Amino acid sequence: MADQYAQTGGDIRPSEDIQPKTIDIPAIRWEEPAEGPVLVLLDQTRLPAEEVELVCTDPQGLVQAIRSLAVRGAPLLGIAGAYGVALAAARGFDVQDAADALAGARPTAVNLGYGVRRAQEAYRAALGNGSGNGAAGLERAAAAALAAARALHQEDAAASAKMADHGLRLLDELLPGGNHRILTHCNTGALVSGGEGTAFAVALAAHRAGRLRRLWVDETRPLLQGARLTAYEAARNGMAYTLLTDNAAGSLFAAGEVDAVLIGADRIAADGSVANKVGSYPLAVLARYHHVPFIVVAPVTTVDLLTPDGASIEVEQRAGHEVTEVTAPQAPLAGMEAGGGIPVAPLGTQAYNPAFDVTPPELVTAIVTESGVVSPVTGGSLGELCSRSRQV
Ligand code: MRU
Repeated sequence: MADQYAQTGGDIRPSEDIQPKTIDIPAIRWEEPAEGPVLVLLDQTRLPAEEVELVCTDPQGLVQAIRSLAVRGAPLLGIAGAYGVALAAARGFDVQDAADALAGARPTAVNLGYGVRRAQEAYRAALGNGSGNGAAGLERAAAAALAAARALHQEDAAASAKMADHGLRLLDELLPGGNHRILTHCNTGALVSGGEGTAFAVALAAHRAGRLRRLWVDETRPLLQGARLTAYEAARNGMAYTLLTDNAAGSLFAAGEVDAVLIGADRIAADGSVANKVGSYPLAVLARYHHVPFIVVAPVTTVDLLTPDGASIEVEQRAGHEVTEVTAPQAPLAGMEAGGGIPVAPLGTQAYNPAFDVTPPELVTAIVTESGVVSPVTGGSLGELCSRSRQV
């Protein structure tokens, strides 16, 4: 049945025929041309049609890029936030104002505030270290903020590799024999990370080990991160993948075609509740009904012990036009409304458009982090993992 689906998926492109390629444009990079430092982003709203870069010269431009999802995904938002503070410092903007604007650009991914704080603390510490407020002192403080951003970027790459190892080992334990058919949601690969990502990195490790039979890719309405970005990454890595509409997942489970669900997370509350792209919670319910492991892969920085439970997580509500229009990110057509998409609902239709939903811990089989695997998921086991990993 999987192969039959692969062929119907083949009206996009038969994934088996795609030659492996790696993503050669990093999702984010810092550059220092003669005109002054800049942050260069791969504009994710234009993928897969075009690999276009956005050059941010000021923190406000980065805030807009974050809001428009040109740069997105929890770990990358943390890295972007840290570089944003470094950019503000290097270019002489008010660092506190920039930090506030960056941290408030999107509410749900805890990594964004973490990255901003980390660079800001490095900046402040350098100022407080007797560097003074003169030009040389400010320059040293800006360098400290940049060093913090670079360190976070590298740590994320290292964490990604460890999550891939732990995640693959867990898959092999839960599903002996390999040949995994994995369903994933949203986009969690190199486009959201300093490395190869979170959930996607585990699927990629399974693929490289010859143990991935198929990656089922939820399209992820309304902004299609699955169809546009995960399919792009899967194709470039030569993985056997098939795209499905989000609401086809139920029949796929019913047909016995899903061995495990792998997703990322934007914030994990102290009780183990997981906020991730809207549509994750229904997958967890389906997985439980069909006795399929539901695995969350996220760095320890995504765990927020200050948020006690799922109900306390702020879920971003986005503009209704993302639902009432089909967005055509690569080509704004003449006559389009402000949202930039093709209307699919009567004019004036109200939309419910939460960007994320929250899965309760009892539906999560395991949380895979760079510091190890938490299973069963409880406040106690998660707290223990955090105190262990934060001591290191
Ligand atoms: O709105 P987005 O595209 O930023 O949402 C991203 C997700 O929900 C990802 O699944 C999550 O950030 C985890 S990425 C490793």
